[in-house]
Amino acid sequence: MQIQFLAAASGSFGLIALAVNEDALPGDLEPALAQGASRARFTGKAGQVFEGFVERGGAVVRAALVGLGKPGAADRAEAAEKAGAALSARYLTAGEPTLAIDLTGSDLTAEEAAGLLLAARLRGWRYDIYHTKFTDEQKTSLETITAIGAPEGTEEAWTIASAVAEGVEFTRTLVTEPANIIYPESFVARAKARYEGTGLVVRVLDEEEMGILGMGALLGVAQGSVKPGRMLAIEWKGGDEATAPTAFVGKGVTFDTGGISIKGAAGMEDMKWDMGGAGAVAGAMLVLALRGAKANVIGVCGLVENMPDANAQRPGDVVTSMSGQTIEVINTDAEGRLVLCDALTWVQKEYKPATIVDLATLTGAIIAALADEYAGIFSNNDDLAAKLTAAGQTVGEKLWRFPMGSTYDKLIDSPIADMKNVGGRYGGSITAAQFIKRFVENDTPWAHLDIAGVVWADKPGATFDKGATGYGVRLLDQYVRDVLEA
Ligand code: BES
Ligand code: MN
Ligand code: ZN
Repeated sequence: MQIQFLAAASGSFGLIALAVNEDALPGDLEPALAQGASRARFTGKAGQVFEGFVERGGAVVRAALVGLGKPGAADRAEAAEKAGAALSARYLTAGEPTLAIDLTGSDLTAEEAAGLLLAARLRGWRYDIYHTKFTDEQKTSLETITAIGAPEGTEEAWTIASAVAEGVEFTRTLVTEPANIIYPESFVARAKARYEGTGLVVRVLDEEEMGILGMGALLGVAQGSVKPGRMLAIEWKGGDEATAPTAFVGKGVTFDTGGISIKGAAGMEDMKWDMGGAGAVAGAMLVLALRGAKANVIGVCGLVENMPDANAQRPGDVVTSMSGQTIEVINTDAEGRLVLCDALTWVQKEYKPATIVDLATLTGAIIAALADEYAGIFSNNDDLAAKLTAAGQTVGEKLWRFPMGSTYDKLIDSPIADMKNVGGRYGGSITAAQFIKRFVENDTPWAHLDIAGVVWADKPGATFDKGATGYGVRLLDQYVRDVLEA
């Protein structure tokens, strides 16, 4: 979807939407809109849409009103996003290729106006490439959104917001693609292709190199698949050379059958999005590059497919991680932590990050606790946890903090190895986090985001349709802005 700007209304649009404040319809509205809106109980609440038709210059024009809520409201930025998203949700397949949004009378800031357009674009994203039989009504018709009379500075704000849109869309594409299309090698290939010309530097480790480095935990998961695993590092050096980088680490299980501890058939297709953490990292790195972030960030994606073939690891196997710590693999379906632990050790040895944030669709237990409303955050550092939570709040990707501690940690002690890969019956998201924490060196500030409940949506949300949400991209980008670029 293209976003364009016009200083004042000119030319003809199939559809024109006027952004209005709550309980404040402009006095010069055509009666068809003014009276129509009031009879339809349209008051201008955030995201409310009224659609009508008016005659202008002898032609019938499809006209809409969209609500921005109350001016000066604390949630004004969110309200602007709701308005943009509501318009594209409503008009994506409505038969009009162009939509004009008239912001002339609105008192939005440039950032809020750019947020409105960002939300319109994100809500209008679809991945239809495998549909060969869509009827015309099913196809996306909306191609261009033109902002009319946007506040000064909106175009500059949009150059940044559009970088965010590119990143979210890249992540959603990776997450949406099925596992016969996106597997470790093709994930790397997609990333390389997308990063061409952005300034991002990509490094890839194959299984032989990971073997030499001693990544027995990650390779133990990968060994049950004919698709070889990969470690992908994405480097963005936009900050001072002397500043230690921040590391974003993602779980990239391109398909999770559970391995020998195989999952049930019902819903197993969802496990194509078990690479959502790696997807978020890949998309966030794209945002940082496209908007030229003044920060040093390393993205790492641990990429494997968890399959149960003849060479798959068995429950009870003991593997040695790159850190030297040994792990008894009680359940081959608790594979994400086995991938993350070696990715974590590697990024610490290789890049000496000042801060580490990992993202993973790690546990079903986090969905039991939080549903799709919040992702879980676990951290050894209150300040980092607070900053990530605040960044998430700003962009509508919410985090809820969970406790950690030595009594939880003991639950993963093993009689035969340094630890086992599952805890007891309860607190599954916490014991998973305790496992990862054992691989954080020197108390480096670290946070783990369990995003299993928020990567994929069963119903449309604020800025996404059903399907891949792109969760994490905006959050990480906002964290970089708030903390690393402040
Ligand atoms: N990828 C799953 C977690 C998951 C479940 C994500 C449902 C999204 C939706 C993970 O690898 C897994 O299988 N976790 C197990 C851990 C258990 C064996 C300790 C789980 O949560 O059941
Ligand atoms: Mn699993
Ligand atoms: Zn998994």
